[in-house]
Amino acid sequence: MSTVVVTGTQWGDEGKGKIVDYLAQQADTVVRFQGGANAGHTVVVDGEAYKLRLMPSGILFKGSHCVVGNGVAFDPKVMLQEMDSLASRGIDLSGIRISNRAQVVLPYHRLMDGLGDEARGKNKVGTTKNGIGPCYVDRDNRIGIRVCDLVEKETFAQKLKENLAVKNRELALLYDHAPLDYDEILKEYEGYADRLRPYVCDTIALLDEEIKAGRKILFEGAQATMLDIDYGTYPYVTASHPVSGGVGVGCGVAPQKIDKVIGIVKAYCTRVGEGPFPTEQLNETGNRLREIGHEYGVVTGRPRRTGWLDACVVRYAGILSGIDYMAVTRLDILDDFDTIQMCTGYRYQGKLLNEIPASLKVLSEVEPVYETFAGWKTDITKVRKYEDLPKEARVYLERMAEVTGIRLGIVSVGPNRDETIVLANDIF
Ligand code: IMP
Repeated sequence: MSTVVVTGTQWGDEGKGKIVDYLAQQADTVVRFQGGANAGHTVVVDGEAYKLRLMPSGILFKGSHCVVGNGVAFDPKVMLQEMDSLASRGIDLSGIRISNRAQVVLPYHRLMDGLGDEARGKNKVGTTKNGIGPCYVDRDNRIGIRVCDLVEKETFAQKLKENLAVKNRELALLYDHAPLDYDEILKEYEGYADRLRPYVCDTIALLDEEIKAGRKILFEGAQATMLDIDYGTYPYVTASHPVSGGVGVGCGVAPQKIDKVIGIVKAYCTRVGEGPFPTEQLNETGNRLREIGHEYGVVTGRPRRTGWLDACVVRYAGILSGIDYMAVTRLDILDDFDTIQMCTGYRYQGKLLNEIPASLKVLSEVEPVYETFAGWKTDITKVRKYEDLPKEARVYLERMAEVTGIRLGIVSVGPNRDETIVLANDIF
C-alpha cells in the first residue's frame, strides 16, 4: 500500500502543482478528489510552464493514470480545452479516467455563480465564477447531473430539460436575466459527451484495484485548508473539502488506506478573494512579495493579497489533515529580504489564543504575534542539499517545523522539477 495525499495548508496557491508533479514522477496514478476548474496549478517541466485547472498534474508524467474523482465539480468544456492544449504540446492523454459519479458543471452554474456573488454586494465571496458552488448546491439539492447522466443521451436530454426550466425561472426572477437556450446547451454537451465517453469509468473500482495491487497513488488536493467549506474562513471559502478527509468522500478511498499526508506550505502567505487574512501586508513588503513571487491568479489573473507566513494556520492544517511532512515552497522568493517575519501566535483582547477562531469578527481583529528572522540575502535556487542552505534559511525552516509541530519533508527553491531539496525519503 502506498498512497499519499497532498493538501494545501493556507489559502491556496502554495505551489501544490510543482510538488504533485515532483511526487508524480514516482506515482502510478494521480487523483483529483475535490474542487474543479477553480484551481490553477502551474507546473514547470524543462523550463516549459503548463497551467492546469481540472486535469490532475500527473498528466505531465508519462505512464500515469490521471483520475478525476467523483468529488470533483467536473466541467467538460474546460477538461476538453485542457486536453486539446496538452495534446498540441505532445502530451499523452491515454491515462485519463473520469468518474462516472462526478457532478457536471453546466453553463447555468457558471452564470449563477457570477450573478449570485455580485448580488451579495459588499459581502461577496469573490469566487472564481467557475460555477463550483452552484454545481455542488445542485448535488446537495439532489438535482445535479452526473457524468454517468451526461454520457447517456436520453437521460441527459431529460435532466437538462427539467433543470433548465427551473434555472431559467430563477434567472428571470432573481436576476432579471434572459433564459438560456436548451437546444444550444444540449448540442454543446452532447458534443462533449461524445468526446469524453472513452475516458469515463467507475473510478472507485479502479482505485480499489490499484490500491490492492500496491500501486503508488497520489491524491492531489486543490485549494487549501483555509478555503475548506467547514474548516476555512467561512463564508469566504470554496464549496468543497480540500483537507485530507476530502479524499474519502471525494474518490471513495477509505481513511485507513491513506499512508501519508504532505502539507504544502508556501514560505510566505497569499490569499485571493475576500475574507480575513491576519498576516496580510498592505504595504511595500506585500508589494515586494507580490512582484518577486508573481502572485497573480492563474485562473482569474487577479493580484493576490500577500503577507508573512502564518504558522498558526499551518499548525491548524496539520491537525485537520494529519500532516506527516511539510513541503515548503517558494523559499527562494525570500532571498532578497533583509528580515523575514513569521506569525507564531494570535493575541485577542490581550490574551494569546490557542486555536483559530471560528468567528470572522474575532479572526479579523486578532493581532498576529511575530518573530523576526534574519534574511539570507543569497540566491538559493542552486542548492540541492538541506545542509547547503544558508544558516538563516535553516533557522527559519526549523522554527516553522517547531511551531507547527510538523516535520520538514521537502523544500522547494525554484519552479523547476530539479529545484527541490528532499529531506524525507519515505514519502512513497
Ligand atoms: P470558488 O471556489 O470559485 O467558489 O471561490 C471561492 C473562494 O475560493 C474565492 O475566494 C476564490 O478566490 C478562492 N479560490 C478558489 N480556488 C482557488 C485556488 O485554486 N487558489 C486560491 N484561491 C481559490
